Amino acid sequence: MVLGNLLLFIVGIFSYASGAFVGINLGTDVSNMPSAPDVVSILKANLITHLRLYDADAHMLKALADSGIEVMVGVTNEEVLGIGESPSKAAAWINQNVAAYLPSTNITAIAVGSEVLTSIPNLVPVLVPAMNYLHKALVASNLNFRVKISTPQAMDIIPRPFPPSTATFNSSWSATVYQILQFLENTDSYYMLNAYPYFGYTSGNGIFPLDYALFRSLPSVNQIVDPNTLSHYDSMFDALVDATYYSIEALNMSGISIVVTETGWPWLGGANEPDATAENAETFNSNLIRRVLNDSGPPSQPKVPINTYIYELFNEDKRPGPVSEKNWGLFFTNGSAVYTFSLSTSNQITGNNSDFCVAKPSADPGKLQAGLDWACGQGGANCDAIQEGKPCYLPSTYQNHASYAYNDYYQKKRSVGATCDFDGTAATTTVDPSTFIYYFPVISLIYLVSLSAFLQMTLN
Ligand SMILES: *[C@@H]1O[C@H](CO)[C@@H](O)[C@H](O)[C@H]1NC(C)=O
Ligand SMILES: *[C@@H]1O[C@H](CO)[C@@H](O)[C@H](O)[C@H]1NC(C)=O
Ligand SMILES: *[C@@H]1O[C@H](CO)[C@@H](O)[C@H](O)[C@H]1NC(C)=O
Ligand SMILES: *[C@@H]1O[C@H](CO)[C@@H](O)[C@H](O)[C@H]1NC(C)=O
Ligand SMILES: *[C@@H]1O[C@H](CO)[C@@H](O)[C@H](O)[C@H]1NC(C)=O
Ligand SMILES: *[C@@H]1O[C@H](CO)[C@@H](O)[C@H](O)[C@H]1NC(C)=O
Repeated sequence: MVLGNLLLFIVGIFSYASGAFVGINLGTDVSNMPSAPDVVSILKANLITHLRLYDADAHMLKALADSGIEVMVGVTNEEVLGIGESPSKAAAWINQNVAAYLPSTNITAIAVGSEVLTSIPNLVPVLVPAMNYLHKALVASNLNFRVKISTPQAMDIIPRPFPPSTATFNSSWSATVYQILQFLENTDSYYMLNAYPYFGYTSGNGIFPLDYALFRSLPSVNQIVDPNTLSHYDSMFDALVDATYYSIEALNMSGISIVVTETGWPWLGGANEPDATAENAETFNSNLIRRVLNDSGPPSQPKVPINTYIYELFNEDKRPGPVSEKNWGLFFTNGSAVYTFSLSTSNQITGNNSDFCVAKPSADPGKLQAGLDWACGQGGANCDAIQEGKPCYLPSTYQNHASYAYNDYYQKKRSVGATCDFDGTAATTTVDPSTFIYYFPVISLIYLVSLSAFLQMTLN
């Protein structure tokens, strides 16, 4: 069981073979932005499978061709007005920024504007028309089944998200939100939500414990329970997503799933931002990844995974505002990780920052087979555990088996000059796959601690 999960994990921290994914946002207010091919190399080296752009940058879209990475492009707020007033502008936008790159660049979604309702209320009247015109242009190009259109909204349009079951959209916006939801339902698209426990926590003035924002378990006496549904909320993230599901339901709409287009935690802040620390950011993002990849939904929609894009790839040092605003990045522009994040917060158990060698998700299966054979043969990797019937056999794919063999070879031989290449099918990642082994013991420990706290309480 534990080893099976380890193997699954090796597939890539950002995606399971099927099920939920964790992608990343690429903000561009960065002074030393690497070239587009370098950005793509950083994404691939870290096995990132889903990328959101805030625009439709031609260099990025070209560099992403044949990368195996799924791409969400953005219509900027500046572009929304023109498109919302002109079907021909919408058609030109689709031709130039989407149709021109498909299928080699796998564009799967268009985010129309960014938090339009709360940030540019003037644009509200043209938002849904813009979405409609873009959709018609996709239909005309026969791309509407490949590419979904939606519009990311801030959590602020739901004034009272707790308890989730009674949350509703701010009535000033509900007519527009209703039109958006109808559009999403008619086009089989999804709701795009920007949900930041960081802001929920920092603006809550101590109402919510930090552990709740960071996905750490709470003592049983402090469990967060919705009094109407009696659902437990293990994290603020789940509560924010569920508040949105309940708000949609309050408009008598259903069957629209939510994708979190932004969440994250800043790792550096100013003197008055004590919660923006590398330790908190690492905890948040590690636990977020683990949370999303467990494939479950929030309490009201347990079977709907919460696909999520982390904000963000690089620090946007050119952004205005407080220090924290410039420090949400997971990576420096040279590609090194700002902090080591992992699927477990128990890094110290195993940890150093060495890198690990895994098979790329996009690698050619024939080449993986050759690499696997070589690693287990001449390469001297111990491949017992991936034989049929052994703990790491499942899931039986070249990628999983090759990842196991590549890493075993790399860890044994790197000190004598072994590289992680395997004919271009392998890449190093800074995330320690073995920390995942500690996930289950850590969880049971927390469970035992809360159980004993609970028993003590009951016995007293
Ligand atoms: C593009 O992404 C879609 C959606 O996940 C996937 O089904 C399809 O196989 C991808 N296409 C390519 C060429 O990778
Ligand atoms: C709803 O939105 C309006 C317009 O932005 C704002 O003035 C009002 O304060 C909001 N209501 C609540 C309860 O937040
Ligand atoms: C939703 O449906 C209920 C029951 O039919 C109705 O009472 C309520 O007014 C509807 N709400 C909206 C926003 O349409
Ligand atoms: C997945 O995460 C949710 C929310 O934290 C939790 O309630 C659920 O038990 C987890 N499921 C598994 C299989 O770990
Ligand atoms: C990458 O950049 C960061 C920040 O400037 C720096 O601390 C780090 O040493 C650099 N890493 C490498 C490998 O050059
Ligand atoms: C880091 O990890 C590697 C691989 O597990 C190990 O060989 C090395 O000794 C470790 N280094 C330190 C400083 O702990």
